[in-house]
Amino acid sequence: MPLDSAPVPRLDLLLARSSGLGRRAATRAIRAGRLTRHDGTPWTDAKERVPPSHLPLTVRLDGEPLVLREHVHVLQHKPAGVVTARSDRRHATAYELLAGAPLHRHLRAVGRLDLDTTGLLLWTTDGTWVHRLAHPKYGIERTYEALLDRPPAPCPEDLVLDDGHRPEIRRIETVPDEKAHPGLLRPAPGPVCRIVLVGGKFHEVKRIFAALGSRVLALCRTAYGPWRLPVTLPAGGWVEIDRRAGPGA
Ligand code: URA
Repeated sequence: MPLDSAPVPRLDLLLARSSGLGRRAATRAIRAGRLTRHDGTPWTDAKERVPPSHLPLTVRLDGEPLVLREHVHVLQHKPAGVVTARSDRRHATAYELLAGAPLHRHLRAVGRLDLDTTGLLLWTTDGTWVHRLAHPKYGIERTYEALLDRPPAPCPEDLVLDDGHRPEIRRIETVPDEKAHPGLLRPAPGPVCRIVLVGGKFHEVKRIFAALGSRVLALCRTAYGPWRLPVTLPAGGWVEIDRRAGPGA
């Protein structure tokens, strides 16, 4: 949905989202004059609409600065050994690594990476955007670099995986060692290949290379649509991104 046709959020909703207060407590706080603008004047109308173009908006709640936001979008460098989940009994989660991100409670992952896969993982508070980015019908390309145990066989145009799935591969190319992304782990020597594809079936990249006779020793997602994993972003780190740079804005 274009940004300018998105519903204009109410002040009490924004305050509740951004402060962790419940909706009713947020309404009461506004009516009591506890929420002030940067010039010190209080808001009193909890139902006032705040145009998205005014967000993020710095205000004060009980005199303390607070940033009002409706949505947040985050690009994370997922390390190996954490699961793409908000909670898990056995493993640390990629979500825990986002502690401190704005609107942390509302963030959802866009798709998944395997436990041992590193690289670019998007998170957003906007459910419609999750769908827009993850659904294959929108044709968003994902780019991965894979460390392999041996060079893959040439990829036939009509590659069919073990479960009958036909992956939508846009490109497979060899990457010279010195050009490989630093986010790709190197547990052993081996050729590195870059693969660009649409769709995100379970273990898809590993199964594609298995069908071409190679085993994936390490896998890193280096791009998702227009977003690239910055080479300077350490594993476990994250940055806020501007959705308007991407599809569906
Ligand atoms: N394909 C895989 O095999 N694993 C991932 O984590 C992502 C894509």
